[in-house]
Amino acid sequence: MSSEEDFDMPLLAADSRARYEWANSEKTKRRRPVARLFVKLSLALYVMVTAVLLMGQVPNPWSPAEPSPPPAERRFEESLLLTLKTGSAVLYNRSPVQLMHLSASRKAPANETRWHEYIPNQLFYSDAEEWVGDVHIRDVLQTVAKDPARPGDVFDEYRRLHSSLSNHQDPSASSKRGSESRGWELDKYKFLPLHADAARRFPDVKYTVSVEADTFLFWNQLVKWLKERDREGKGADELKMWGNGNLLAASLADLEYIMGRPSWWQDISFAHGGSGYVISRGVVQSTFGSDAQFENNATFLSYLDDSCCGDAVLAQALQERLPGWIPPYDESEPRFIGESPALFNFVPHQWCEAVFTLHGITAFDYVRLDRFRRTVEPLLAEDDYIRRADLWEALMPIFLRDPPLPLGQDPSGGLSIVTLDDETTAEECHEACVVTPTDDGECLMWTFDNSASTCYRSPTVYIGQGKVDFTTGYHKQRIDAMRASHDCSGRLGNIASLMAESHVA
Ligand SMILES: *[C@@H]1O[C@H](CO)[C@@H](O)[C@H](O)[C@H]1NC(C)=O
Ligand SMILES: *[C@@H]1O[C@H](CO)[C@@H](O)[C@H](O)[C@H]1NC(C)=O
Repeated sequence: MSSEEDFDMPLLAADSRARYEWANSEKTKRRRPVARLFVKLSLALYVMVTAVLLMGQVPNPWSPAEPSPPPAERRFEESLLLTLKTGSAVLYNRSPVQLMHLSASRKAPANETRWHEYIPNQLFYSDAEEWVGDVHIRDVLQTVAKDPARPGDVFDEYRRLHSSLSNHQDPSASSKRGSESRGWELDKYKFLPLHADAARRFPDVKYTVSVEADTFLFWNQLVKWLKERDREGKGADELKMWGNGNLLAASLADLEYIMGRPSWWQDISFAHGGSGYVISRGVVQSTFGSDAQFENNATFLSYLDDSCCGDAVLAQALQERLPGWIPPYDESEPRFIGESPALFNFVPHQWCEAVFTLHGITAFDYVRLDRFRRTVEPLLAEDDYIRRADLWEALMPIFLRDPPLPLGQDPSGGLSIVTLDDETTAEECHEACVVTPTDDGECLMWTFDNSASTCYRSPTVYIGQGKVDFTTGYHKQRIDAMRASHDCSGRLGNIASLMAESHVA
């Protein structure tokens, strides 16, 4: 199934029209007697050949005596679709590496290794058409941007992007100055037309896997898991949507995320788009697949005008069309992760959970995670998955591998905030971590904000990002004890040193 079929069609149409015109030209009319003679000769030859074949004199080349071999078993990946959503304001900064990799994954290789990813069906969507190498990115807002009922100021950004691009200007350069929120508002309008287009191009795929340009997807891990789901019950025809479940609450506390305060708004649980999500054929066919106007439904479009988030409106639209259906995010939730490796919170009780995605990925993260994946996938048993513990083993700060205990790194991601009145120095913060447990368990690491003289202690661990004015320490013995208490720790050997070796392809 080629995703580029529609691009051949205008060419074919133009070509056949040219032939039609040629056939009606004066020159052709003058040649007709010659043409008739040719037709007669062909007919005679055809009758003769058919007669010979019927008498069984020669083997019929059109029906070989040997039964044709059974068609090769289709690979499960061929029943999946991957969609990637991006925007012109970010595409050129962070996506080219991913796009080149995905493009190379379209074909199954002659020599396969365990880390190879086979992603035959791919569709890319943005707010402007673009080609990156042989990857075609579609403008998914083309129709909605022309709809006079949509708020003009949001689509001013669409026009600005198109004006930049048609003048060969990088739109991300100007996006940095204050228009990020406009790009974000534009983004919410992409979800419904994206799935409508994907459902038209690939109506029969079992599962549609959707990610964004800053999602890292462990494709092979997800494929393994979906293959198991496909064998359960009615498989892909069950109503399923998996992802990172979030709640957009109607409570006052959350109103800042909702423009205005629409009266229809209720709590809505949805799969966070950036963390990646999966929709089953059952859901696609009973929504987008059975109503060509689903994406243009005025009710859903009015939700979009009022809402912050296209992923939330997608969930709402699906649920309104399938009354009583509750998407089972909890079946998959801890595996679709909404953070980047540095800011991800490694919670001890989820240490051995499988990982399908990470989010907020930079080009640097992408390169490192891809190296990690290629190292780890060949080591996994058939029924094993990449776990959070493996990420920690690969990416944990170097000083945790060897003593002594460090000072001077910052985990920076939202540590549970515990302000201790008396703490005035990093050393005292360190001491507080050693002697006083947090409300949620033993202190595994601490961060001291030197400028605010504030001490944060955490019962979980972060890889962290260096940050001026922060000092951080890890309680190495406790972290090691926690790691040792989980079976999955260390089962793949020393991942970090394997990643550093040159033999990994
Ligand atoms: C592919 O596999 C064949 C047979 O296993 C081997 O002879 C060949 O060297 C491999 N090619 C590459 C490029 O690895
Ligand atoms: C829009 O969707 C809602 C919810 O499924 C449905 O009740 C309504 O009839 C749809 N509107 C149109 C014009 O199809």
